[in-house]
Parts: sequence; structure tokens; C-alpha cells
Amino acid sequence: MSKKLWGGRFSKSIDRDFEEFSKSIHYDYKLAEYDIYHSLIHVAALAEEKLISAGDKKKLVLALESILKEIKSGRFKFNLSSEDIHTDIQNKVEKKAGKSALKLHTFRSRNEQIAFDEKFYCIKEAEKIYLSVKEIITSLNYLSRKYKSVFIPGYTHTQRAQVVKLSDYLGAYTEMFARDTDKLNYFIKNTSVYVKSGALAGSPLSKVSYQKAIEAFKRKYSIKGLRIEVSVNTLDNVSSRDFIIDFLSIISVIQMHLSRMAEDFILYSTAEFGFFNLPEEFCTGSSLMPHKKNPDFLELTRGYTGRVYGYFVSLLVMMKGLPLTYNRDMQLDKEPLFSALCIVKDELKITAKFIKGIKLNYPAIERALEAENLYATELAGFLVYKGVPFREAHNIVGRIIKYCEGKGMHLKDIEEKTLKSFHSSLTLKAIEKITSYVHSVNVRK
Ligand code: ARG
Repeated sequence: MSKKLWGGRFSKSIDRDFEEFSKSIHYDYKLAEYDIYHSLIHVAALAEEKLISAGDKKKLVLALESILKEIKSGRFKFNLSSEDIHTDIQNKVEKKAGKSALKLHTFRSRNEQIAFDEKFYCIKEAEKIYLSVKEIITSLNYLSRKYKSVFIPGYTHTQRAQVVKLSDYLGAYTEMFARDTDKLNYFIKNTSVYVKSGALAGSPLSKVSYQKAIEAFKRKYSIKGLRIEVSVNTLDNVSSRDFIIDFLSIISVIQMHLSRMAEDFILYSTAEFGFFNLPEEFCTGSSLMPHKKNPDFLELTRGYTGRVYGYFVSLLVMMKGLPLTYNRDMQLDKEPLFSALCIVKDELKITAKFIKGIKLNYPAIERALEAENLYATELAGFLVYKGVPFREAHNIVGRIIKYCEGKGMHLKDIEEKTLKSFHSSLTLKAIEKITSYVHSVNVRK
């Protein structure tokens, strides 16, 4: 059992099972770096207020910085019997700085530490994810440029609809991911990390001391842009986890985009569609059927979506009935956050490589583009330009298609006489032009 940050008023020691049950060190260790930052600012504010001597400050900063170095280099040994990361670091500081460490926690609470640590963490993670989503956009643009002049069938209801450019199809995903980066950017720029909340009701340290401490910290660690501020409403700061919910909502939408794209790519790689040859290094084989090349990465991406949404929803549910201010329930915000990020980060990294490896199967695409129904809308458009009202043109083309289906014949094989019986302006030459995919897309400018 490691030393706790509380205990004076208790006469019984904690039940072993409950202690295990309530611990968070095995996951909140991920916040260690940010917990040190909070301590560094707090120490500077305490020194400003003369609540600790210059000597104490020096010892504490030295201890905290050496722990930070160990954390960053991966050498720091977390003590898994500590209650949480705040306790673990306090105990380590006590070992390094002796008595000075007993003043470190003056007028501060773990409630404000955890809010600070998690917000800082979310912003830093959002910055990384922003770059990874940009990589996806780069890969999509690469594929679009590589196959600039390729056309594919476009779908609604998974039924062939109209011909589109491959670059426009890929561009639709580019737009989605670009919106995701905008949202991440907004989150990064507009989330404030607060100090001076205490347990809920603020601290007697002055605002000015904290502001000086924040400035010195930002200067020393070359932190620009990040909004570290004195709490506006301390009760709100220790109570709220909107920032995690906002972040996970952006993450859930990214996951949705990845999943839809995965589903498209799975479909387009089937023998039935056959447009895409998927990069082999992201596929697996079958232990029984020698011919199989399965799109497992895409399936796992689609499959993980439920989990990511689940993590997001679990936070909304966890928060919905909590009375102000801090409640221990809120400790359970971390695992969903960490797990969702872990999944999405892996997917983003692999998807960016995956997209670049996609090759096109031209014969299958050409065959699909021969389907005359893809040009029915353009045929109606042709009649519109001949002065036929659109509803009427729609009906005429519908009847032509029914006629062809009934006879089991192609549009281009209809006799001109029959064609003209549907509308006098229709000629075989016109049909040939309309059923060209280049023409079909160009018509829509
Ligand atoms: N492990 C806690 C959490 O993650 C830290 C804050 C604990 N505060 C408290 N009053 N017990 O929420």
C-alpha cells in the first residue's frame, strides 16, 4: 500500500478490495506529464505568495523537472499501488525533495489537477489527430491525382445512379475529413485549461500570482497558443467534462467517416463491383480457401465504430445526473477517452497508407460504366433541352427503359423507328452520345 494524500480523520485503514476497486493509477498514469505541469505552475504561484521559500521552490522545481525527464524518456517507474497519478507523483517528489514536498499541495485539490491534466492531454491529442487526419486528406488527394481521368458509377441506395469522376467521389471524403480538421482546430484553439479552482471553491492564492506563474511556465516550456488561464468559475471547472464529450464527439464523427469509407472500399473490392484492388499488406488470407484476400483492416475499422460510439455515449450517460461539483463517478471518464483515441489513432495511421496502395481495376470499371441505366437521367435532360417538360421527359425515359427490360435488349439496339415512337427528337446518334460517360459527366459541368 502506498502513502495516501488523505487519512488523518480515519481510524480504520481502507478495505483492500475497495482500494483496488477505486484505484486509477493503472490508466491515469498517461496524464503524468500534465500533472507535473500543474505542479510547476502551482509551485511558482506559491513562491509568488511567499507561501514557500526560494529554497523550497528550487528543490521542488528540481524534483518535478527530474521526474518529468524520466516520464518523457519512459524511465519513470509508476508505482501501481498508488491510488492515482497525483498521489504517485507527490510521493516521488517527497522522495526527491524531502520536507519541501509537504508544501506542494498547499491550497490545491486533485479535483482541479485532474481537470487540468485531462484538458491539457485532450488538446495535445487533438493536435496529433489533426495532423493524422491531414495525412488522410493528402492520401486521398494523391489517389485523385493518380487517377485523374477515371470515371466510376455513382450510387444512391447502393443502386447505380449516375456517372461521377473518381476524383469527385474521393473528394467527398476529403470534404468530410476537412470538416473534421476544422472542428479539431476549433477545439484546440478554444479550450481553456484552468488553474486556481481548489476542490471547488477556488484558492486564496492571488490571481496575479497565478498569472505570473503561467507566463513563466509558458516561456520556459515554449508553449504558444495554448490557453492556460485562471478559472472563471471554479465550480464549473471541477464539475465539467464537456471538453472530453466535445472531443469524443469529433472523434466519433471521424470514426464514422473512416467506417463509411471502409464500407465503400469493401464493396468496391468485391468480385461483384471489382473496381478496387486493395493493397495486399493490409489484407489477410483464409486458412481454408486458398483464393481469399480478405479486407480485414477495413472490416475492423467498421467493427470498431460501435465501440467508439459506445465510449462517447458512456460519458454522456455518466455525466447526466451528477450533482455539482466533482463526484468520483468522473474518474470513469478516462478509460473511454483513452480507448477511443487509441483506436482512432491506429486507424488513421493505417488508413493513410492503405489509401495510397489502392489500385484500380479498369476492366471492371469499364464494364460497370456500360450499364445504360447510368445515363437515363442524362437522356431525360436531352429531352428537356428539346423542349419537353421534365416530368414528361422522366416518364418517356422510364417507358423506354421498361420497353428494353421487357425485350431483354440494350438501349443502343433499339430501332430508330421505335425510338422515335417514344419521342420524335430521339435518334440512335443522340443515344450513342448520351451514353458516353465523358459526355455524361461533362453535361453536368
Ligand atoms: N482519480 C480521480 C479522478 O480521476 C482524481 C480526483 C480525485 N478527487 C477526489 N476528491 N477523490 O477523478
